[in-house]
Formats: sequence, structure tokens, C-alpha cells
Amino acid sequence: MTKINYKNLINQYAQDLKKLQSNNLFRVIENIDSTNSFLVNKKSKNIPEQKLISFACNDYLSLSNHPILKKSAINAVEKYGVGARASRFITGNSSLYSELESQIAKFYNCDDSLVFSSGYACAIGIISSVVGDGDLIVADKLIHSCLLDGAKLSGAKLIRFKHNDIDHCQKILAENRPNFQKCLIITETVFSMDGDIGKIKELLNLAKNFNAILLSDDAHGLGENIISNPIHLQMGTLSKALGSLGGFVAGNKILIEYIRQFARSLKYSTALPPAILASSIEALKLMKKTNLAQKSLKNAQYFCKLMGMPICQSSIVVIVIGDNKKVLKIAEMVRKKGFIIAPIRYPTVPKNQSRLRLTFSSAHKKAHIKKLAGILKEIT
Ligand SMILES: Cc1ncc(COP(=O)(O)O)c(C=O)c1O
Repeated sequence: MTKINYKNLINQYAQDLKKLQSNNLFRVIENIDSTNSFLVNKKSKNIPEQKLISFACNDYLSLSNHPILKKSAINAVEKYGVGARASRFITGNSSLYSELESQIAKFYNCDDSLVFSSGYACAIGIISSVVGDGDLIVADKLIHSCLLDGAKLSGAKLIRFKHNDIDHCQKILAENRPNFQKCLIITETVFSMDGDIGKIKELLNLAKNFNAILLSDDAHGLGENIISNPIHLQMGTLSKALGSLGGFVAGNKILIEYIRQFARSLKYSTALPPAILASSIEALKLMKKTNLAQKSLKNAQYFCKLMGMPICQSSIVVIVIGDNKKVLKIAEMVRKKGFIIAPIRYPTVPKNQSRLRLTFSSAHKKAHIKKLAGILKEIT
């Protein structure tokens, strides 16, 4: 083996970083101080402070700054303090967890649910506990990276089917299922970087026919695609539409207990702060009793209409540009006019499929949407 000294090692890292820059794939983490759910203040070294209207947050229901959520978080801090102090298995399991988990189970029409510290931790925890070496995962080509990371971590054989292509999924299952013990099919209810809807019913049928479990990720959904069935695990996050932080999985009580016992990302990580749990409980209540979800979808559809694009199925709208440099340039031009939209590049999306990703919230005003559409029509 060739010896690499410390100086050479650092040089190699520096070269790799330069390569990222020359391919327009370098990411900058900017300071964003939100003053409310869709207005953000950006201030960093080279960017003067500027009030911008964000179409790049996942706060679909505009709950992250809702007075009821803020009040419940403040009350929880006053009552229980800031941190959870330990893992849920030691002393970190505040009674707020039980309340939140029973609400989530009820919402998804399931026996039980389990809350993790993030959607990412939830995805890797579920997948690496329900399947392992000798098992099979059949996953949609466009599932989120956290689900792919969970699949890799599990040690199970991963085969991907063409996006939303049920025939292809069936073919893979027919050819491979007999050679493996357990089998997990993975999809999303709303695809995060495309905004289209997963085929939950059809995949559930395949899962039944091939003795598999279906895992669907509802991180960007608003609970519209709920199908309760003992072999269906429904995961989601509290960090997007619900405005706070955390991930969850709902399903059959044996499966949930199994995940509770075996998910290492649950066991070996500190519990969520009580304030987060308290605000998530209020967010779920608000989501159930308001029509905020309809509002964010209507806003996205209004934008599509103005742009002359096909009407979207979710609050996520994408405009595929292709070239990395071009997508960055358009996002920059839009920002100069007072709006933030997300330029999404590889590896978040496949190579040469860079895109503008716009997310709509219930709080966006028609006038803002109209102005943004006007700007984008001119530039793209
Ligand atoms: C589809 C999907 N699943 C899971 C996650 C992870 O959720 P969290 O941000 O709560 O870790 C994300 C986050 O971007 C996501 O888009």
C-alpha cells in the first residue's frame, strides 16, 4: 500500500473540493434567519441582508411559526427544560412521546407508531431493523437518500424499479423474491424532488402477492395517501408540514415493537426535546382541523396555471433545467428580484437533471405567486 502522509492527504481533499467547484456542485451553507414561515432574511459574508420570499421551505402548512406551536414549545421549556437528557430507553422518554405517538397512530389509522429524532434517523432505523443479510429490498428509483442509506446499512440486496413503474417492480419481484427470506418494497407518497405521487395501492397489492412489507415515506405528503394494512409501514417527518422536528413510523403493533427493539438510530441517540414534542402534538391537531393542506396545494396549482405547466399533484413544483451552472444562475437571478427558490443538483437528483424546486405553503399570497411566475417566465 502506498503511504500517504498528512500533507498529501489534505491536498487530495483540497483537490476533490476544487473539482466540486469546477463542476458547479459545491454547496454553500448560508445563514437564513426566518422571521416568519415564508419570509427569510439572508445575511452572509458576500450577501447583504435582504428580505426574501421563500419558495424553498418545506413548511407547507406554515406551522413553524404558528403562535399555538410557539406557545406550547415555550410552556414545555418552562415545565421540563430544554434537553431530553438521555436516550428514550434510559430517562429521555417524556410522557409527551406517548401522546404524540398515539395521535400519529390514530391519524394513520394504525395500531401504533414510533417517533425518532429525525426523518433520516427513522428511515435508517426502520430499514436496517426489518431487513438484513439474506433479505431483499425492491425500491423505486427516485426514493430519498435517507431510504437508500437505510437500505445500504441493512445489508439486504437492493434492486430498484423504474420510477412508479408497477410492471417493472412486479418483474423484479417475480424474478428475485424466491431467492430471499424477507422482502421490503419502498416508495414515497409524494416524491420529494419531483412532486408526483407514489402508487401506494398498487404496491400494496404486489406486497400482498409476494409476501413483502411495503414502506411508504410520507415526508412530503399531508396524510392523503393513507392505506392501513398490517404489512404497510407508513413513515413521515414532523419537520416539514408539521413545522417542528423528528421522524415517525406508523403500522402494525408487532412491526412497530420490532422496530422499537432493533432500530439502532432510536436506541443509541438522545431523545427529542420536550418543546419539540409539545409543538408537534399541536401541529397534528391543527393539521386535522384546518384546510391548510388544501391551501398549499391550491397555491402550487395556481402557479402551474400561470406558468402554463401541467397541474401539479402536490405542493412541490419542479422545473427541470439540466445544466448545473444554468440552474444556479437562474436561482441567483430570481433571488435578486426578492425570491428564494432551490437549485437542486446531483447527487440529490440524477446527473444532467438539475432543477428548480419550488415549494408552496398555505401562507403564500397570490400576488407573490404571480410575481414569481412572471419572473420565471421571463428567465426560463
Ligand atoms: C422524502 C424524505 N424522507 C425523509 C427525509 C428526512 O427527514 P428529516 O429532514 O426529518 O430528517 C426527507 C428530508 O428531506 C425527505 O425529503
